[in-house]
Amino acid sequence: MTERTDNLFSDAGFIRHNRQIAPGHFLLSISIPLAFPVPKPGQFCMLHLPGNEAMILSRPFSVHGFQKKKKEAVLEILYRVSGRGTQFLSNLTPGAEIRVLGPLGRGFWRLAGKRILLVAGGIGLAPLAFFLEREIEYGNHSTAFSIYLGAKNAEILEGLASRIPAGNQKLLPATDDGSIGYRGPITDILKKDLEHLATKETMILACGPTAMLKSLAELVTQKAVFCEVSLEERMACGIGACLGCVVETRNQNGSSTYKRVCKEGPVFDIREIVWSR
Ligand SMILES: Cc1cc2nc3c(=O)[nH]c(=O)nc-3n(C[C@H](O)[C@H](O)[C@H](O)COP(=O)(O)OP(=O)(O)OC[C@H]3O[C@@H](n4cnc5c(N)ncnc54)[C@H](O)[C@@H]3O)c2cc1C
Ligand code: FES
Repeated sequence: MTERTDNLFSDAGFIRHNRQIAPGHFLLSISIPLAFPVPKPGQFCMLHLPGNEAMILSRPFSVHGFQKKKKEAVLEILYRVSGRGTQFLSNLTPGAEIRVLGPLGRGFWRLAGKRILLVAGGIGLAPLAFFLEREIEYGNHSTAFSIYLGAKNAEILEGLASRIPAGNQKLLPATDDGSIGYRGPITDILKKDLEHLATKETMILACGPTAMLKSLAELVTQKAVFCEVSLEERMACGIGACLGCVVETRNQNGSSTYKRVCKEGPVFDIREIVWSR
């Protein structure tokens, strides 16, 4: 049954396909009712597998793609198998039911006229590729996009890169084992590039492991570059009720407050987060 409150939707969806794009990485396509609100890049959905013990609680996943067709809407999720729930999910076949709650949280800001650097650590590419897809769809050809993509090895990097929408953006790859691109953290390449970019005309959007986001925070602290990050804290309810996802944030007067990643995030200004946590 469809339930709707304001711009939030909860309904049964059905798997259209669930295919592996790289070892341990899958692209899930879900058919949902047409009435599902159009998500903004950076927003996420809670997925629930009814009656499944490996995933009793819903799990949060960024929106990776969304299209409205004649009779259905199609939601795409790009995921990595990291535990029991995602392992179970990876074995589901077309027709299986999945409950979808969303779109949730606040998405990325869009500042006109800036060069955009998308910094993705592994599966963190999911919301950033959706951002780029929307920019291309809206006909934004005047902005220069660069994608800094870090992954464990060439196989995973190439699988993830296949999910980047076609355009004239530049791809800068890095892998942990050096099997493709730079060997080492993706933030090393970014650091060099930031030395000669006009930072006031640049904006950075990032998503990936906490270690990557922390390094990024150190890089941009002394620069005038606008930078937003999408956080992937563990979540229980996804709708602001349980306080299970709070992070410490800094106020302008120097004091700190706890904010809910599911409600006030998952996208935050990088300078707002207290990274020493
Ligand atoms: C806003 C948001 C968006 C997300 N988007 C995506 C996405 O697009 N694709 C994707 O693959 N994953 C995404 N995640 C992470 C995803 O929710 C977890 O990987 C998933 O919940 C793991 O479920 P599980 O049952 O397989 O693992 P569990 O059995 O619950 O946990 C397995 C292991 O992963 C760790 N873990 C679980 N959740 C997280 C988390 N959120 N952050 C760090 N470690 C975690 C656990 O501590 C444990 O070590 C997102 C998380 C958030 C909060
Ligand atoms: S997950 Fe419950 S408040 Fe954020």
